[in-house]
Amino acid sequence: MEPHKLYFLFSLLFLLAAYLLSSFQLKPSTATLMNLINRNLPLFKSISSEEEEVRTYIVHVLPPENANEFLTDDERLKWHMSFLPESHDSSGEPRLIHSYSHAISGFAARLTPRELKAMEAKEGFLSAYPDGEYHPTTTHSPKFIGLIEGSPGLWRDANYGKGIIIGVVDSGINPTHPSFNDDGMDPVPPGRWKGSCNFTDPNHHCNKKIIGAKGFNGTQRNPPLSDDMKHGTKVASVAAGNFVEDAEVLNNAKGRAAGVAPLAYLAVYKVCFTTCRDSDVLAGINEAIKDGVDVLSISLANKATIFNYELLTKGAFTAVKSNIFASFGAGNEGPSPGTVSNLAPWVMTVGASTVDRTLTAMVKLGDGRELFGQSGYQTSNAQGGIFYPGGQDAAAKYCWSDDLPKNKVKNKIVLCHSRGNYYDVEKGRLIEFLGGAGLVLLNNETVGSITTPQIHYLPASYLSFSDSAKIIQYVAGSRSPRATIEFKGTLIPGLSPAPVVGAFSSRGPSNATVNGGILKPDIIAPGVNILVALPTPAPGPRVPGSSKKFTWASGTSYATPHISGVAALIKAVHPDWSPEAIKSAIMTTANTEDNTGKKITDQTSNPAGLFEVGAGHLDTREARDPGLVYEKGDAQQRYDDYVSYLCGLYENYQVTDIISSKRRVDCSKYKTMRPEELNYPSIGLIMGLTESSRKMERVVKNVGVARSTYRVKIVSEADEVEIQVSPDNLQFRELNERRSFEVTIRAGSRAGRGRSYEARMIWERELGPEDTGDKYVVMSPISVAFT
Ligand SMILES: *[C@@H]1O[C@H](CO)[C@@H](O)[C@H](O)[C@H]1NC(C)=O
Ligand SMILES: *[C@@H]1O[C@H](CO)[C@@H](O)[C@H](O)[C@H]1NC(C)=O
Ligand SMILES: *[C@@H]1O[C@H](CO)[C@@H](O)[C@H](O)[C@H]1NC(C)=O
Ligand SMILES: *[C@@H]1O[C@H](CO)[C@@H](O)[C@H](O)[C@H]1NC(C)=O
Repeated sequence: MEPHKLYFLFSLLFLLAAYLLSSFQLKPSTATLMNLINRNLPLFKSISSEEEEVRTYIVHVLPPENANEFLTDDERLKWHMSFLPESHDSSGEPRLIHSYSHAISGFAARLTPRELKAMEAKEGFLSAYPDGEYHPTTTHSPKFIGLIEGSPGLWRDANYGKGIIIGVVDSGINPTHPSFNDDGMDPVPPGRWKGSCNFTDPNHHCNKKIIGAKGFNGTQRNPPLSDDMKHGTKVASVAAGNFVEDAEVLNNAKGRAAGVAPLAYLAVYKVCFTTCRDSDVLAGINEAIKDGVDVLSISLANKATIFNYELLTKGAFTAVKSNIFASFGAGNEGPSPGTVSNLAPWVMTVGASTVDRTLTAMVKLGDGRELFGQSGYQTSNAQGGIFYPGGQDAAAKYCWSDDLPKNKVKNKIVLCHSRGNYYDVEKGRLIEFLGGAGLVLLNNETVGSITTPQIHYLPASYLSFSDSAKIIQYVAGSRSPRATIEFKGTLIPGLSPAPVVGAFSSRGPSNATVNGGILKPDIIAPGVNILVALPTPAPGPRVPGSSKKFTWASGTSYATPHISGVAALIKAVHPDWSPEAIKSAIMTTANTEDNTGKKITDQTSNPAGLFEVGAGHLDTREARDPGLVYEKGDAQQRYDDYVSYLCGLYENYQVTDIISSKRRVDCSKYKTMRPEELNYPSIGLIMGLTESSRKMERVVKNVGVARSTYRVKIVSEADEVEIQVSPDNLQFRELNERRSFEVTIRAGSRAGRGRSYEARMIWERELGPEDTGDKYVVMSPISVAFT
C-alpha cells in the first residue's frame, strides 16, 4: 500500500473519532434521536418488551397535603424514597440519583417501566419523564457590544460586575487558566454565598474569582470537575473571564482579553460528562439556586421543542421566581425556521451573530480579483496553481475521496467544500501530506456569508458562498488557474457589515403549541469566531511563542454568556431589579441596525427577520438606563401572570408540572391569559385573518427621569397590519411609577393567511425646552402571524 493510502485510512478512523467527539456540539447523536423518539411515546402505556429495562426517570411529586412546604433535607429525602420500591435495584445500584430541593419538586431515580407504573398509583405522584440529553450549543466582543475600558459606560458604572455571582451550568472548568485569575477581586462577603468548592484535582482550587465548583454525574459522589469536553471553560471565560494581558490565538489577535463581566464571581456546576443528562443538569440548576447565584448561564439546548420536556427551562422557572436571571442558548440548528429551543417566556433565549473583526486570509486569483476569506491560523502566504476536485460526487467535492492524486495536489492550492467542522482540518492534513501548497474552503448556499474558520496546519482560507461561486467560475473558465493566499491578520472593523446573524443560529417562529407564539429568540449577541479560553492547549500547528491558551469558537453557546455577563453588570448597577426588568432593559435597547446603518442582515446578506434577531443585537450603551422597563406588579403578580398564561395553554396537571408547583394548580382560580397578553417586552401574536382585532395590555415602569412624557410610534414595513396604541402618550411624575397602555392589532386589507408581518413599537421620551434629561428610546418588536 502506498504510504498516503495508509495515512488516508488512519485519517479516516481518526476523523470518525473526531466526528463522534465533536458531534455532540452540533448534531443530536443517535442516542439522542432515540431519546427524542422515546420521549414522544406515551409513557404509561404498556411497553412490553422493555418492561424490565432500568432507566433514569425524572419524577415530579407533590408533598403530602398537610406537610410543611419547607421540608428539611432529611424529610425530603425520606419522602422521595417513599416513592421507590427499595433503595437499591437488583444490580445493587442505588435507586435515587438526585433529590431536588429547589429546581423542581421531585427526584431522579432508576426504575423499570413496571415499577414506574406502580409508582403512578401513589399519592402525590404527578408525572415522570425518561432522562434525556442536552447539548452544548459553541476579545474583542466586549468592545463590539459597547463595553470599553476606562470610558464612561456600563463597565465603569457596574465596576466590571463586582459582587455579582454568575452560575455556569456546563462541562466543568480549568480554574488554572489565566482568565480565572482573581486580580482586583474581593473575597465573597460572608453570608452572601452558600456554595462550596469541590475540585478533586489537587492542583485545582477556588479563588476570589471562582467561588464555587461542584459536579453532578448520576450517583457518583464528588466527580472530577475538569473540562474534558472543552466547553464550560470557554463559556465561563466569555461570561466572567478576568483581564488577561497577553492573550493571543497562535500569535494572532494579540492584546488584552476579558469576559463581559470581568470582576464578577463564577460558580461552576459540571453536569456534562460524556453527555449532559437532564437529571444532572437539573441537579446543577437546583444547586445553583440553593447556593445563591444571581445569574444562571446555560449554553445547552435540546432539540425537542416540546414544552413539557424542556426540563431546563422548567428548572429555570424556580430560579426566576427566586429572582435569578436565566439566559439560555437558542441552539445551533439554523438556518431552518422553527428550530429555536428554550422557548419559555421566563428565560432569555439567545441567538448568535458576528462581530466586526475579520481574521483575514485573502485569496488573490490569477486574474487579479481579491476575495476576502478568513483563517483561524495566520501563517506564511502560499501560492500555486489551483486544483479543484469538484464535480457532482459529494466525496470528491469535499476532497474526501480516494482519488485525491498526489500529482494533482502537489504544490497546488486545493479547493474543497467545507463541512464546517473538524473534518476540514483532517482533509487539510491530508493535502499537506500530499505536498499541497494551501487549501481554500468553500461555503455552500445554506451557510452563505458566515465562515467559521478552523485552525489548520497548512495555509488555508474560508470563503463565503458568493466568493466560492466566483472562484469556481474562475477555475472553470481558465486554462491554468492560479491563486495566492495572503494573511493580513485581524482587521477591525472587518470587511463585511456586522453584526450578521450566524447561519447556524436557531430561528423562530416558536412552536405555538408549546409557548403560544411568544417571539423567540429574544435577542442576538456575539457568537461567531469569539475569542475564548481553552482548558488545555489545543492540538494544531506548532507555533513558537504561542501559549495556545485561547482560541476561536462559534455557537449560540458563546452568545449566551454575553447576555449573562451583561445581566450581571446591570444587576451590579441595579441590585434591586427583577429578572424581568433586566431582560426588558436588554431587549428594548437592542440595536436593529448594523455598523453600516442598515437593517441587520443574515447569512444570505438580506435583511434578517424578527424570527432571526428577536429584539435585535445586544448593545450595552443604553441597557443600564433604558428609561422604561416592562415589569408588572411585584414578584407574586408576575408569578401569577405566568400561571395565567400557562393555564391558557395547558391543563391543570401540566401547569403544576411546568412550574414545579408544590401544590396542584387550579387554573379556574386564575384569570386566563392569552400568550400575547403576558407583559413581555416583545409582542408575538398569532390571530385569525378574519378576526376583528386583538387587544393586549402592557405595563411599563419608569426607571429613567422622574418627570417624563413618552410618546409612541409604530414603525412597520408593511401596511398589512394595523396597530393602535392607546393612550399614545404616557406621563410620569416620579420614578418607579407604572403606566399601562393597550395595543390593538387587526389585519389590514392586504394581509394574507399563513403569512407573518413585523413592526416595532417605540416609546420615546419627549424633551421639553429646558429639559436636559436623556431622550430615551424604548423599542419592542411586534410579530403578527395570520392563520
Ligand atoms: C460519570 O459517571 C459514569 C457512570 O454513570 C462513569 O462511567 C464516568 O466515568 C463518570 N465520569 C467521570 C469523569 O467520573
Ligand atoms: C462537595 O464536597 C462535600 C465535602 O466533601 C460533600 O459533602 C458534598 O457531597 C460534595 N458535593 C457535591 C455536589 O459533590
Ligand atoms: C410543536 O409541539 C407539539 C406539542 O408538543 C408537537 O406535537 C408538534 O409536533 C410541534 N410542532 C413542530 C412543528 O415541531
Ligand atoms: C452546508 O455546509 C454546512 C457546513 O458548513 C453543513 O453543515 C451543511 O450540512 C451543508 N448543507 C448542505 C445542504 O450541504
